[in-house]
Amino acid sequence: MQQHILVTGGAGYIGAHTLVELINAGYRVTAIDTLERSEFRIIEGVERIISKKIDFHQIDCLDAVALNSVFERNTFSSVIHFAAYKSVNESVEKPLRYYKNNVGSLMTLLEVMKRNKIRDLIFSSSCTVYGQPDQIPVDESAPFKKAESPYGQTKQICEQILENVISEGFRIVSLRYFNPIGAHPSAEIGELPIGSPNNLVPYVTQTAAGVREKLVVFGNDYDTPDGSCIRDFIHVSDVAIAHVKALEFLINRTEASLFDAFNLGTGVGVSVLELVNKFIQVTGMKLPYIIGPRRPGDVEKVFANPQRINQAFGWRTKYTLEESLLHAWNWEKKIRNR
Ligand code: UD1
Repeated sequence: MQQHILVTGGAGYIGAHTLVELINAGYRVTAIDTLERSEFRIIEGVERIISKKIDFHQIDCLDAVALNSVFERNTFSSVIHFAAYKSVNESVEKPLRYYKNNVGSLMTLLEVMKRNKIRDLIFSSSCTVYGQPDQIPVDESAPFKKAESPYGQTKQICEQILENVISEGFRIVSLRYFNPIGAHPSAEIGELPIGSPNNLVPYVTQTAAGVREKLVVFGNDYDTPDGSCIRDFIHVSDVAIAHVKALEFLINRTEASLFDAFNLGTGVGVSVLELVNKFIQVTGMKLPYIIGPRRPGDVEKVFANPQRINQAFGWRTKYTLEESLLHAWNWEKKIRNR
């Protein structure tokens, strides 16, 4: 029987790309989103890519009644929970909002899943749970260091909750994302930052498009070869495909309950300045930038050891950094010309 997957935050950046990959892999999907931080045109973009309508509901995961009614009207086999806030800066200004939304929505979802006897869940975690790891590449056994922000703390708390609730019969895979970038190769969907972007690649593409005057590289005095921070940038479609693999992994497991966490990265560290130069090279665009002070809360370098996810899921990244940057740029051009 065709498996039916509920995707929360389905209009979000990673959620929308995952809808495409789930449908391509033969799953039936229902997507929910508040559309508070995205727009319905992202769902329309998904529909154009897959030439099908998406079963979409504008629902908040904090609304137990509305959420429960979606569960009662469908027979889901699993849930992929993307719905959460992700701005580090905003979480410092509004920690209460972050705890309520990120932790509260997970609690509500778990209760509704339990009531409806749905036990398989894939959770969006982050490499931020490690803080600045002692060893790089970082593997899953690295301890959680003190979180650098309330956002990071919500991811640590959520993972701890998930590890605890398996005694109630849940089967959970937590995916610790490194730095997802890029957009669908069709340029029908991509990231829609609200206001001035916090993340590097949307800032880069907006600067190249002339929306921002110049990029500020936050620090060139780190203990790295060129002095800028090092991250593990991964194409968002590779991240999306890993969710399909995570579902297969869960389906094939026979345990009555389980919790497992995997790094979701490429395993390659790339510096901010390397990325900037690569963008200029692949797009041929001008990218004015200056070196500014360090950004508070930034870790110096982090990239994944992806060995466990590679082996357990039989998954490898498909896209290069060049393709990721080109796809991000194609998407930026598309939204500017709209
Ligand atoms: C962080 C978290 C990640 C989280 C994400 C959500 C870590 C290691 N990662 O990503 O888990 O999901 O926020 O937003 O904590 N940069 C500039 N100029 C800019 C913007 C960024 O130089 O205008 C630099 C940053 O200093 C950093 C790198 O680019 O070194 C990447 O920054 P960003 O895209 O914001 O992602 P992270 O902070 O790594």
